[in-house]
Amino acid sequence: MYLTKAEERALEGEHGEALALAYRILVATAKVLAADRLIPVAHAHVSGVSLLTIGEAGAEFLAEFAQTARVRIPTTVNPCGIDTTNWARHGVQPDYARNQLRVVEAYRRMGATKSFTCVPYAAFRPPARGAHVSWAESSAAIYGNSVLGLRTNRESGLTALASAITGKTPRAGLHLNAARGPSLMVKVSVKPRTPLDYGLLGYFAGQHSEQTIGFLGLASLGPAEGKALAAALGTSGACGMFTLEKNPRPGIETVDFTRRERQATLEQLGPGEVEEADALVFGCPQLLVGEIAAIARRVRHRRFRAPCLLFCARKVYDRARRAGLLEPIAAAGGQFVCDACADFSPLVGRLGRRIATDTCKAAHYMTRVHHITPILVDTQAALASFLD
Ligand code: F3S
Repeated sequence: MYLTKAEERALEGEHGEALALAYRILVATAKVLAADRLIPVAHAHVSGVSLLTIGEAGAEFLAEFAQTARVRIPTTVNPCGIDTTNWARHGVQPDYARNQLRVVEAYRRMGATKSFTCVPYAAFRPPARGAHVSWAESSAAIYGNSVLGLRTNRESGLTALASAITGKTPRAGLHLNAARGPSLMVKVSVKPRTPLDYGLLGYFAGQHSEQTIGFLGLASLGPAEGKALAAALGTSGACGMFTLEKNPRPGIETVDFTRRERQATLEQLGPGEVEEADALVFGCPQLLVGEIAAIARRVRHRRFRAPCLLFCARKVYDRARRAGLLEPIAAAGGQFVCDACADFSPLVGRLGRRIATDTCKAAHYMTRVHHITPILVDTQAALASFLD
């Protein structure tokens, strides 16, 4: 693998141990990926912020690393486990908050934007189409490749952090044209109507290929639909990109997604009667302004019959507030949580044993992280059931 003289010197520690360690991570990754060299990236998005994903050891490493490591390129970070300003109101224990805020402080010290979002493309202006970036958070990486025309592999928190510190990534995988065409087609015979439908399609497809997947029969995607498709695709498998195809491609295997596959995927993830749910959770991935607006329209002059948590980026929350979208939801009893992940946080586990949610990713992780029984239901049906 080729390294420039400057990269070699950095690898040998000429500019300090933090930069050397970041280069070691990238060089080791590049060898695994058979990359020929490193290339510059315009932006990094780092996961591994919530204490529930990194643990005490991860928090310790970040605090130590942040003593000397500094990001070189615009860098956003994933949600953490708490609302950084309102954690006490949500009943988070002070010890837990203190440990989580150490991680928050470590990223701030390194120079990352205090974004705490898994929809960095919605909260901040993304780089231009064609830009090479290094994005962890599978839903964001897939959305970036497939909808925004960015080029990124599905990075881990550590490799994205190494990219943030060096400004580089291995030239391999989805940075190259060869990996960006579909190696499997999914023929969509049951037309998706809601974001949940797109999620079920994505979850199904993600189980069938680790390479780029082409969807036949999807004309275009709105932001919420694209987000739902990308998130679910990234949850059930290792695929990093999808394309929308007009025609089958000769020689490429095609699988069908019919009413039967849709139903089977729903049964796999979270069947159940929404009326039996103890609480309702929206925002995995975190909510877009348009999604908050749709909820606000529906809840006017109504009350939630049980707890309803809505997870979003603080930037998105501020935009929604300026647009007057928060009052009707707050008046109905909905509770917004900024900065936090809907699943890797202590909040959802306390709501009850059966939680209704409208996304496949939330249903997948609620079961695995909190041993909750999820009830997967379309947004409008959830609201219809939860509003008195
Ligand atoms: Fe975002 Fe957490 Fe879901 S990072 S995509 S809310 S699992």
